[in-house]
Amino acid sequence: MSNTTQRKPIRKAVFPVAGLGTRFLPATKVVPKELLPIVDRPLIQYAIDEAREAGIEQMIFVTGRGKTALVENFDIAYELESTMEARGKDLSVLDATRFIPGNLMTVRQQVPLGLGHAIWCARAIVGDEPFAILLPDELMVGHNADTGGCMKQMVEAYDEVGGNLISVLEVPREEVSSYGVIDPGATHGVMTVVNGLVEKPPMALAPSNKIISGRYILQPEVMRTLETQEKGAGGEIQLTDAMARMIGTQPFHAVTFNGRRFDCGSKTGFVEATLALALEREDMGAEIRAIAERLLAR
Ligand code: UTP
Repeated sequence: MSNTTQRKPIRKAVFPVAGLGTRFLPATKVVPKELLPIVDRPLIQYAIDEAREAGIEQMIFVTGRGKTALVENFDIAYELESTMEARGKDLSVLDATRFIPGNLMTVRQQVPLGLGHAIWCARAIVGDEPFAILLPDELMVGHNADTGGCMKQMVEAYDEVGGNLISVLEVPREEVSSYGVIDPGATHGVMTVVNGLVEKPPMALAPSNKIISGRYILQPEVMRTLETQEKGAGGEIQLTDAMARMIGTQPFHAVTFNGRRFDCGSKTGFVEATLALALEREDMGAEIRAIAERLLAR
């Protein structure tokens, strides 16, 4: 039996969506940040589609108070659908929101104590198998149909090396203190051995300019590590700190994503994503370009 066939497949993805989204207030007072649309699809839809493209079918939302609309978004909307049908409207626009019954699961994070704590809240559903994590406010757009999206690239890397994987990308050094940063070891192709991890380091102490970019494949042991994880940067229980403690006991690789990433948790990143994706759309790209040119000429 080859190594690949011995590896447990990645069947489950965790979407932490219990954060407060304070950077987008007042827009996110009632509407979850993850439902803000880039053109006409909510952020969470892009993340779900990315997981599905990677062959993952079981989705776990870690939600909180005021976040129920996120789950309803993936339910059947009888009134809407029958009205649309009666008016002869195309229902296929809702296809991406459909789920095989039982494949969308939710757990509650009562208090948003940090990303690490959110992931730990999913431990009973994750069980004893490796799993993926996707942060929906990081929008990852694959280079083209051949490369596929970020999670597809990560699953391909996982099939090769197994263990734990995080997606990384390079940013200007002045920006590293806003992110989790890797201490890189040997690089082979798109994969880099991770020797260490540090969350939001001061620029001078950052071990590299390779930042963790919101996609992970982790072994279930991370749940036991998170159980004893103390608060870190920002007073939050950090996933990066728990992963850092696992290095040395488990293989860790970084995968350099072949594609673009938009930080939609920040306002400027959100606007950039909206413009970039609108410009590329067949149904509106030319019109948006003309509008942008007109605005810039003022
Ligand atoms: P962020 O830190 O970007 O989101 O977390 P936030 O806290 O909601 O945003 P701001 O900083 O107040 O504007 C990244 C992801 O992790 C989730 C968030 O919902 C987001 O998808 N998260 C964060 C949780 O689920 N629980 C937490 O305790 C923290």
